[in-house]
Amino acid sequence: MPDFSDKTVIITGASTGIGRATAIAFHDAGARLVLAARSSDILAQLSTDLGGPDRALPVTTDVSDPDQCQALIERAVAQFGGVDVLINNAGMVVSGRFEHLQPDDIERQFAVNFFGVVYCTRAALPYLKQSQGVIVNISSVAGFLGTPTASAYSASKAALNSLGQSLRAELKPYGIGVSTVCPYFTSGAQLAQKGVIREGSLHKSERKQHKWQRHPPGQQTSEQVAAAILKAAERRPRLVVLSPVGRLIWRFNRLAPWLTHWLLERGVDRL
Ligand SMILES: NC(=O)c1ccc[n+]([C@@H]2O[C@H](COP(=O)([O-])OP(=O)(O)OC[C@H]3O[C@@H](n4cnc5c(N)ncnc54)[C@H](OP(=O)(O)O)[C@@H]3O)[C@@H](O)[C@H]2O)c1
Repeated sequence: MPDFSDKTVIITGASTGIGRATAIAFHDAGARLVLAARSSDILAQLSTDLGGPDRALPVTTDVSDPDQCQALIERAVAQFGGVDVLINNAGMVVSGRFEHLQPDDIERQFAVNFFGVVYCTRAALPYLKQSQGVIVNISSVAGFLGTPTASAYSASKAALNSLGQSLRAELKPYGIGVSTVCPYFTSGAQLAQKGVIREGSLHKSERKQHKWQRHPPGQQTSEQVAAAILKAAERRPRLVVLSPVGRLIWRFNRLAPWLTHWLLERGVDRL
């Protein structure tokens, strides 16, 4: 178990799913936490469960607002004196065929999944320089694969992958690590329920879903993903692609892109 005793760890999207599991994992590793999300009640309860604000400070934050991201970092520094780890995990999904997405949908997708990371990272940077800390961006296997019916989501995660690569090189001289973690399908998360669902979305009612959609092969639990995030914060790898199926898709797309395109085109015909 990595040891984060007395390290200050900020986790965005800490109210549910992967972020919540990550908060618990860092708590178990001794960290002082700053929990960010929009759902104040859920954050307050989680804070209580993890020992109260002295151990886990809840800060209601919408990451699509730069002022709220700045305030989040300032609250963290006021409470704990610095920032050692920033986990940019908050995310949402816009789902549906591109022709049915509104421009606002796509802007919202980028506002949360991409600009939320930009705002939190910018605000935390001076403190991460002091601590020679680490940024872990939670992207997705979809960031490597332009997924039909998730065009905006895939594009937002592809942008995040690219940002992570640039920052890793730029921030190395300051001793700051930047890692990108790409989960595959993950259980215990609310991404599909909370997202913006437009016509053509795969996130149909349970009844209409295909068996593989309900139980995708290679699916991981939020706790397994959280363990990988903890490890990434300790070892600072460039990239972590999760689940054997996620890694297979990633490799296929690099080695035989024509094959993944052929499969995606066939898949789209069946939707
Ligand atoms: N689940 C998967 O299969 C999967 C696969 C690959 C990658 N991921 C990525 O994993 C990350 C975590 O998602 P999850 O799967 O755990 O889904 P989730 O259960 O829906 O969690 C998303 C978290 O982000 C927060 N959030 C959403 N919009 C926000 C905003 N504007 N400002 C602040 N917080 C916001 C949510 O809290 P509030 O609603 O309280 O704000 C929640 O805590 C996301 O970046 C997602 O893209 C998930």
